[in-house]
Amino acid sequence: MTVKTLVFGHRGYPAKFPENSLAGFAYGLDHGIEGLEFDVHLTKDQVPVIMHDERLDRTSDGTGYIHDYTLAELRQFHLAENEPIPTLAEFLTLVGTHDVQLNLEFKTDKIQYPNIEKIVMGMVHATPLKHPVIYSSFHLPTLKACQKLAPNEAYCWLTGKPVVNAGAFVANEHLAGLHLSHYQDDVPGDERIWTVDDPKEAAALFRKGVAGIFTDDFVTMTALRDELTV
Ligand code: G3P
Ligand code: MG
Repeated sequence: MTVKTLVFGHRGYPAKFPENSLAGFAYGLDHGIEGLEFDVHLTKDQVPVIMHDERLDRTSDGTGYIHDYTLAELRQFHLAENEPIPTLAEFLTLVGTHDVQLNLEFKTDKIQYPNIEKIVMGMVHATPLKHPVIYSSFHLPTLKACQKLAPNEAYCWLTGKPVVNAGAFVANEHLAGLHLSHYQDDVPGDERIWTVDDPKEAAALFRKGVAGIFTDDFVTMTALRDELTV
């Protein structure tokens, strides 16, 4: 076993905190989390905020679509445990220069937010982080738009389906790799798998030496990885 798989907190630490909450992110950062995955949308006034769904209903006390609210209006709503809905700016300030690999997922597969790539990447580029961010999206055109703005960064396409001719696809689309729901043995570049909460599945992926896994319980999975990886 040579490659050490990086363990990403999927939406922070949802096993113990509200998903995509500053409390979950902060706990991870204070407890040696190696990677953080989080999901980004735009408000009506084009402020990047962190939430998984396009709508507020499942994870907050609000209702309706994020893009129908300005940030000021969105602030009236809260996640569980009275947590605020984080802005990307707040998240980046919290991360600061922690030794953590970020994976920013553009949530543009259902709603295409105008100019989200430029707004989000401008904000990230203005922040002195320790490691370059990995950008991902289920919506390939979003990654293509990002590549035009910043060609030399790491872009990974997300998909829940097997990728046919993965080698040619990754090369042709100038991707750093793929973020998949199931392992594939022909992926060039970085292969990261979501969402891995089953220890048996995790152990197999650690043995294969995938670049990363996304898990709801980074504490358990990091301990398992350390136990299995020399
Ligand atoms: O980025 C990995 C994973 O988060 C993709 O799926 O729906 O959890 O954002 P989802
Ligand atoms: Mg995600």
